Amino acid sequence: MKVTVVGAGAVGASCAEYIAIKNFASEVVLVDIKENYAEGKAMDLMQTASLNGFDTKITGSTNDYSKTAGSDIAVITSGIPRKPGMTREELIGINAGIVKEVSSNIIKHSPEVTIIVVSNPMDTMTYLVHKTTGLPKNRIIGMGGALDSARFKYRLSEALEAPASDVDGMVIGGHSDTGMVPLTRLATRNSVPVSEFISEERLTQVSEDTKVGGATLTKMLGTSAWYAPGAAVSGLVQAIACDQKKIFPCSTLLSGEYGLDDLCIGVPVVLGRGGIEKIVEIELNEAEKAKLKESAEGVKKTNGLLEL
Ligand code: 2OP
Repeated sequence: MKVTVVGAGAVGASCAEYIAIKNFASEVVLVDIKENYAEGKAMDLMQTASLNGFDTKITGSTNDYSKTAGSDIAVITSGIPRKPGMTREELIGINAGIVKEVSSNIIKHSPEVTIIVVSNPMDTMTYLVHKTTGLPKNRIIGMGGALDSARFKYRLSEALEAPASDVDGMVIGGHSDTGMVPLTRLATRNSVPVSEFISEERLTQVSEDTKVGGATLTKMLGTSAWYAPGAAVSGLVQAIACDQKKIFPCSTLLSGEYGLDDLCIGVPVVLGRGGIEKIVEIELNEAEKAKLKESAEGVKKTNGLLEL
């Protein structure tokens, strides 16, 4: 199993590290445009192999995509991260051109690849990859919901004073500060609805804190987060590589599902060796449907800024 990670910055390098530690991939190729940067990160990571007990071979390449040839999965993290006070959507001007070039370089050397998009604004970048590569829609996946759901579970575990491993919850909708839809109604603590333990007001606060989870960290760190994004995308890579048939909320191209069409947005999907093997249409109540529709309108507005 060969995995390419484009962008050897904090998110890309964290993703490569988590993939290696999970030890399911034979090779991870890190690519960056900065001279020797990917090679350096790869060497540093390989020097943890005996310490972290993995056999995965991590190599680096300065923008030479021939080194990525035959990749099964490629993760696109390249582009600029947001600064404090910025929205993800403000990155489109620079990141669209980068993602377009990177995705065409990837498929030139790996025509059978499954692409996972992390670069922001992620839903729009995922849509851009569809429009520019022509890859089958099951092989283009946007990573946002897995990260947002992890932040949702973190906030729920805080409110419940319970371990995150005892909590389940999902965030659907756009990966944006205003467009996320944390499904509080369906969240559980070891199969018990969380509303049995915490008040409506507290749940609303959990939901609001989840939606700005990225912006909160950007304010604290001066740049976008990287550990949870890297871990979230490594989970999607593993589900595909190991054919796990796990359900994740991922940004995927909708053609009528959830009453939405011609956009990529976060909904539950089954991930396996075939990439997005099934879009799962769960029963939403009227309020959740309205929030998802509003979120979709926001994503389409950002898509409208693309020069396709
Ligand atoms: C985040 O929310 C980078 O969009 C990513 O941290």
